Amino acid sequence: MLRNDQLDQWDRDNFFHPSTHLAQHARGESPSRVIRTASGVFIEDRNGTRLLDAFAGLYCVNVGYGRAEIAEAIAEQARELAYYHSYVGHGTEASITLAKMILDRAPAHMSKVYFGLGGSDANETNVKLVWYYNNILGRPKKKKIISRWRGYHGSGLVTGSLTGLELFHKKFDLPVEQVIHTTAPYYYRRENLDQTEAQFVEQCAADLEELIAREGADTIGAFIGEPLLGTGGIVPPPEGYWAAIQDVLKKHDILLIADEVVTGFGRLGTMFGSEHYGIEPDIITIAKGLTSAYAPLSGSIVSDKVWSVLEQGTDENGPIGHGWTYSAHPIGAAAGVANLKLIDDLNLITNAGEVGAYLNDTMTAALADHPHVGDVRGEGMICAVEFVKDKADRVFFDPADKIGAQISGKLLEQDKIIARAMPQGDILGFAPPFCLTREEADQVVAGTVRAIKAVLG
Ligand SMILES: Cc1ncc(COP(=O)(O)O)c(C=O)c1O
Repeated sequence: MLRNDQLDQWDRDNFFHPSTHLAQHARGESPSRVIRTASGVFIEDRNGTRLLDAFAGLYCVNVGYGRAEIAEAIAEQARELAYYHSYVGHGTEASITLAKMILDRAPAHMSKVYFGLGGSDANETNVKLVWYYNNILGRPKKKKIISRWRGYHGSGLVTGSLTGLELFHKKFDLPVEQVIHTTAPYYYRRENLDQTEAQFVEQCAADLEELIAREGADTIGAFIGEPLLGTGGIVPPPEGYWAAIQDVLKKHDILLIADEVVTGFGRLGTMFGSEHYGIEPDIITIAKGLTSAYAPLSGSIVSDKVWSVLEQGTDENGPIGHGWTYSAHPIGAAAGVANLKLIDDLNLITNAGEVGAYLNDTMTAALADHPHVGDVRGEGMICAVEFVKDKADRVFFDPADKIGAQISGKLLEQDKIIARAMPQGDILGFAPPFCLTREEADQVVAGTVRAIKAVLG
């Protein structure tokens, strides 16, 4: 007990938590939770409370917790070679093997993978690659990056700018001027309620055309998007969206970065979201599911088209001036190799597709008729429930009422299930590990129904 009490105090006195109300936490007004151990889809805190983690950490522990195969691969790598850098052509067996495994799984036109540590730094790399690419091609003005409102791409300087959520800009002087935003592909929140999905897609493409015309196509280097909007609300794209957007980008010679940090390696029931929605990206961002978060590792997969210009660039200018000390860290790479192997061996992507469809169907059947549930949506092993004050007229709740957070709080309190109150809107998100069973999916749905009843009746 004494040790636990101290830990609480040490936490409040010393630890600067990300994405946290700092003042409330430091004053002890918000609960702190110390997680001690985990297995499968369950985590356990230091008081022995067992929680079903229906968000897989931050939708990253895709293979589930406590996988001995990955832990052992990490331990073995640490004993054999904890570190060596990857500058000037150095590598390790793990990093080279992992690059090959990724390219074997990626769309055929992808060429090489650059390794970083997390999704944010991978997207910073991607923006630099776009700038370098256009400089080498003699197009020094073609540098702006178009992102979507409600996109999430990280919280660095440029990546926080790419992120189209107010919380990540406010008081940070973001977005930086090279980043501009276009319409979110969020049909449920369309402005004109009379629009059909097809008309809304036309509008998204027209809005993009208009933005490009206003800025000048010769100033736009790339467009970045998640195949399925994640943190912005867990929103699958409307039918035909990606085809329409890609037509516009091709016309104006604008590169496409598919941010697959959430969707990469199986979340949608397919290896990549690009494959799922017919996206042909020039660069793909990967992180989370690459190691299932057993160690920090990210990657930028570049296409043949981009790679050939990068080669030309170094022939003309010498070695590329980009790299981190921990690029391709062998421990992360060893975790990645073991993780991708486990996904194959246990057929986890198939399970994500099948049990994910079951979770989505069951959630829809249980909630679609609820007077305060406006939308239930998802794809593969990801699902969201959006709450509204008035369903017929689609009137949202006052954000100050924090309905989403109240419901996730109830779900935790009553049924010991973790779902995520998404940061913008009253949206409850689910993205469990791929090893979720149908019985556990039933538990999640039943708990959600009870939590909604407790808060909204
Ligand atoms: C789509 C997407 N891109 C990038 C990031 C940033 O990754 P990280 O938090 O590892 O920097 C995230 C994180 O949630 C994400 O969801």
